Amino acid sequence: MGERYRTSLKLPGDSKFDGLGYGLPISAVHDFYDVLEKVAGGTKGRIESFQVAFGGTGQSSSFNWATDDLLRNMRERSEDVAFFMDSMWSALRTAEDWGVQVPPHSTLNNILKKHEVPVSVSPDGALETADRDSVIIAGLDEDSSPSELVQRLQLGEKLGEGGYGVVFKAIRSTTISDFEFAIKLLDPSPFVSDRSKAVKRFQREVKAIQLLEHRVIVQYVEAGLTTEGKPYILMPLIRGLDIRTRCAKADFDVIVKLFSEVLGGLTHAHENGVLHRDLKPSNILVRKTDTQPVILDFGSAYLLDEMSSTSLTTAVVGTLGYIPSEVLADPKRRSALQDIYACGVMLYEAVLGQKPDPANYRTIAQYRPELSWVDPVIKDAIAGEKQRLSSAKEFAERLRTPA
Ligand SMILES: Nc1ncnc2c1ncn2[C@@H]1O[C@H](COP(=O)(O)OP(=O)(O)OP(=O)(O)O)[C@@H](O)[C@H]1O
Ligand SMILES: [Mg+2]
Repeated sequence: MGERYRTSLKLPGDSKFDGLGYGLPISAVHDFYDVLEKVAGGTKGRIESFQVAFGGTGQSSSFNWATDDLLRNMRERSEDVAFFMDSMWSALRTAEDWGVQVPPHSTLNNILKKHEVPVSVSPDGALETADRDSVIIAGLDEDSSPSELVQRLQLGEKLGEGGYGVVFKAIRSTTISDFEFAIKLLDPSPFVSDRSKAVKRFQREVKAIQLLEHRVIVQYVEAGLTTEGKPYILMPLIRGLDIRTRCAKADFDVIVKLFSEVLGGLTHAHENGVLHRDLKPSNILVRKTDTQPVILDFGSAYLLDEMSSTSLTTAVVGTLGYIPSEVLADPKRRSALQDIYACGVMLYEAVLGQKPDPANYRTIAQYRPELSWVDPVIKDAIAGEKQRLSSAKEFAERLRTPA
């Protein structure tokens, strides 16, 4: 039982005087009220002590009046999260002095999380705001047990930034060890404009990707919304280089092996009805230890559909060169052919260090006569929609059995 709790909460920085500048939703106030009512166990005097903790008089004429007064005191104090939580904390410490069972800090955090309030209480009574260095992630399932719901990740170095969000190294510490992941915090703009629609869509995409099981496709450890409402995806951390950089110093047979692998993964995805739609070198990492290519960002392209026309322009420009003309002409177009095209472009780029011009194809044979067999394969992969290789499987077979 070591040290005793402080009777007041340790508040961050200036919030001792100024508060945090935002309040608690009323539904959260009711949840906190329920906690206190339970602790009071029907005793008027206890409810009155809680009133005092929330700035009330602590004198009511009956038990029912006492509970009404407490709820009113709590509502009044709910205008600022810092003051409210400080009162809540000291109310619970008072209760501890009576020797009654008091819910742990995780109960408070669950309520905060449930109502998406971006603060949490540490075990020793410090109020912490969710800042850039840590994300508190909320599970989609609010029925899970309290301790499961509160999970904090320390954000490490930034691994990159793309069209849909920012990727950080993320560390989860347990009593046994630290575990490293990569976390992608997605651009919340579609979630802001039509939240429930975007959440549903995110859910659908994540579920589709969960069905994919293939060594070439990155697994999702989990996905959800942070307490600030930002969508995130937690993945294994892949240590290695992107496929373009990796191929720049690779022999041709290594390049062919890598692309056969990638096409194998794509075949699996396509057969399960999942398209990537944003294949490009930065979305395929080659693991250093075993030269295993891993495709990232499956399904992220769904966000593109949700973005405004201005960001759509930049997003398309960012990937220009990997998008076939039929999709450029009609961005709503969806088919496996887009992924096949992108693979053709990447393969050419892997060999020659530059993208092909589909309208004026310059052969690889011109520079590397010994590789002349690969030109017809790439040509067929980046051909017009009607002439293009029709499946990733066929593409892979052509690479395996040079004509
Ligand atoms: N699981 C991961 N492990 C290691 N690094 C990763 C992981 N996921 C992403 N990254 C790194 O983060 C970088 C940025 O990723 P991000 O997907 O945001 O941008 P992008 O791939 O350039 O563009 P896009 O948003 O179109 O996919 C990637 O290029 C990759 O190097
Ligand atoms: Mg990416």
